[in-house]
Amino acid sequence: MPPLDFFISQWTPLPASPKGHVLRGKTVILTGANSGIGLAAAHQLAALEPDHLILACRNIKTGEAALASVCKQSPHVNAAVWELDLASFASVKAFAERANTELDRVDVAILNAGISPNRAAPMKTTEDGHEATHQVNVLATILLALLLAPALHRSPAPHLVITSSEVHGWADPAPIIAPLRANRPILTDFDDRALYIGHDRYFVSKLLLQLIVRRLIPALPRVVIASVNPGMCATNLMRDVSFSSLADLRELLPFAHIMPFMRGAGRGAAMVVLAAVAPESAEYWHVGVAASAPSVFMATMSGMRAGDQYFAEVMALCERVAPGSTAVLQR
Ligand SMILES: NC(=O)c1ccc[n+]([C@@H]2O[C@H](COP(=O)([O-])OP(=O)(O)OC[C@H]3O[C@@H](n4cnc5c(N)ncnc54)[C@H](OP(=O)(O)O)[C@@H]3O)[C@@H](O)[C@H]2O)c1
Repeated sequence: MPPLDFFISQWTPLPASPKGHVLRGKTVILTGANSGIGLAAAHQLAALEPDHLILACRNIKTGEAALASVCKQSPHVNAAVWELDLASFASVKAFAERANTELDRVDVAILNAGISPNRAAPMKTTEDGHEATHQVNVLATILLALLLAPALHRSPAPHLVITSSEVHGWADPAPIIAPLRANRPILTDFDDRALYIGHDRYFVSKLLLQLIVRRLIPALPRVVIASVNPGMCATNLMRDVSFSSLADLRELLPFAHIMPFMRGAGRGAAMVVLAAVAPESAEYWHVGVAASAPSVFMATMSGMRAGDQYFAEVMALCERVAPGSTAVLQR
């Protein structure tokens, strides 16, 4: 059962999204731009008149369809689709290489793409050997943030926005605490098929993301970093759920009563877009306001130790995958 705050926040009036030409002169990258919150954000960003809007999508065909709908609504926008598959570190590196060579700078990077696995299905592994939700939602997202940092640093007012979720506070931290107590790498446990529990992987991935964001903010002080909770929105996030599967329905049933509280994707997107012009870094934006991450676990001794260990492991992984990628960090 979600906490009372969830139900209240879903009905809390949200601040107005930015208006006018606040992105004029800016280059904006948006991942997951072809669907749900990302597609709605693409429309809203285009209306703010950026110089260059890059829709980063893993499927060029659906990306082109998104581009067509954005251009129809904002005919003068200078937008393009670039290929990016977060389930492949090679794709992330190629995308970042292109951004660092073809763009003078990146002013706003909105890392919004994410997946929620079919909770009853077996674990999926990427070509890089990592559990897919963990790689897409956290590892590749953070690698991309690091690889875009040089281009962000060329902006006078760089913004890095990451789409988070309040479910990070509902996640059971047991899969993070177990390796910590046993002196095992956290990353290894998350790739272990025998330890995989589909029904809480999405929640835990968002908790791991928040652990990283808390440490990324002081490590990249020149970049305004905002991780945003868009609230629960009607999107395609549950696309892997089969409504004809009993196992899936059993997993979904506990959430049935929160469905009436869903927002439209546009309202969630507005919170993401608002963070793209935020005055300062905040580890968690909730109902359009900067806040501290509400996770109880993150404030415990175990949470702090786990965060430090996990951050170090992810940075070491990024360094292995893309040597030199962590050189941008102030430690
Ligand atoms: N909906 C909610 O209630 C809610 C609440 C809190 C947070 N969020 C977060 O909001 C973000 C957007 O999700 P959404 O709700 O808008 O869901 P969505 O409609 O399913 O959109 C997800 C986007 O991520 C892209 N994506 C998935 N895997 C990818 C990969 N390997 N490489 C590149 N892009 C990939 C998808 O592309 P394809 O279409 O090609 O798969 C799609 O564009 C996610 O981070 C999600 O966790 C959502």
